[in-house]
Amino acid sequence: MNEITLTNGVKMPQLGYGVFQIADLEECERCVLDAIDVGYRLIDTAQAYGNEEAVGNAIKKSSVSREELFITTKIWISNASYEKAKASMDESLRKLQTDYIDLMLIHQPFNDYYGAYRAMEEYYKAGKLKAIGVSNFHPDRLIDIATYTEIPPMVNQVETHVFNQQKEAQKVMEEYNVQIESWGPFAEGKNDFFTNETMKEIGEKYKKSVAQVALRYLLQRNVVVIPKTVNKDRMKENFDVFDFELTQEDMERLGELDKESSLFFNHQTAETAKRMTGLKR
Ligand SMILES: NC(=O)c1ccc[n+]([C@@H]2O[C@H](COP(=O)([O-])OP(=O)(O)OC[C@H]3O[C@@H](n4cnc5c(N)ncnc54)[C@H](OP(=O)(O)O)[C@@H]3O)[C@@H](O)[C@H]2O)c1
Repeated sequence: MNEITLTNGVKMPQLGYGVFQIADLEECERCVLDAIDVGYRLIDTAQAYGNEEAVGNAIKKSSVSREELFITTKIWISNASYEKAKASMDESLRKLQTDYIDLMLIHQPFNDYYGAYRAMEEYYKAGKLKAIGVSNFHPDRLIDIATYTEIPPMVNQVETHVFNQQKEAQKVMEEYNVQIESWGPFAEGKNDFFTNETMKEIGEKYKKSVAQVALRYLLQRNVVVIPKTVNKDRMKENFDVFDFELTQEDMERLGELDKESSLFFNHQTAETAKRMTGLKR
């Protein structure tokens, strides 16, 4: 497994497993156990996904030791203040049934996320968090938080896939020593993702699927990826991406698929801000 070294020296697997939209707790526990069995060590959850408990149960039941796993969770908007973030991190630790979380992220750049970030810094110093970062921070917000915090974010998890490649944002992250992590590496199948002709053609050369080409492209661009699937065969497929290498020409062709905008929502519009601030959890 390729590993990325974060600014504080913590090693993070470059390929992990995400559990967004696996709401059924038994199903989520089964998925995480399957993923660990396949070889995944990074598990990505969030307070907002409502399944931290299931991830915790899988961690406890798994034969793989806690130290070998890398668990990420995220503080939701409604918990984004100094006091609420602390209480919510205690709850995340309890639900995940662990003494520490490998990576804690501010989920969205809304509400009092500076207060929440200060609480994360405190928990980081106390050893309860091994690394801290943010998610969905556009370059302007990222530069701001990287400048005005004692411990700058180590990771920024943003929508990143062939149709929204984040090339300019990644440059800013590199300038500020922030590791880019992709959410939605398959754009959740949007834009006929899995039947895309360019990815299919490139995959045929290596006997690899569209999903494998999509992940490989991001890995070769030094992006951390956390694909989600509830299907164990697909977990294996998505994990089997370290035995081939895309050429410079493949990389350039895939680079041309970039539409440079979100297939989901732009965090900087009034519409998104109204929706996010209107959410109850
Ligand atoms: N920070 C954030 O705001 C944020 C937002 C979204 C997601 N995330 C994180 O990123 C993770 C991944 O993103 P995502 O779940 O949104 O979407 P994704 O990984 O881009 O796509 C998941 C979809 O692709 C399908 N799929 C997976 N592997 C496949 C394969 N090999 N062949 C064909 N179809 C395949 C899955 O179906 P099946 O499950 O039916 O196989 C599912 O419908 C999440 O689970 C979450 O941890 C974070």
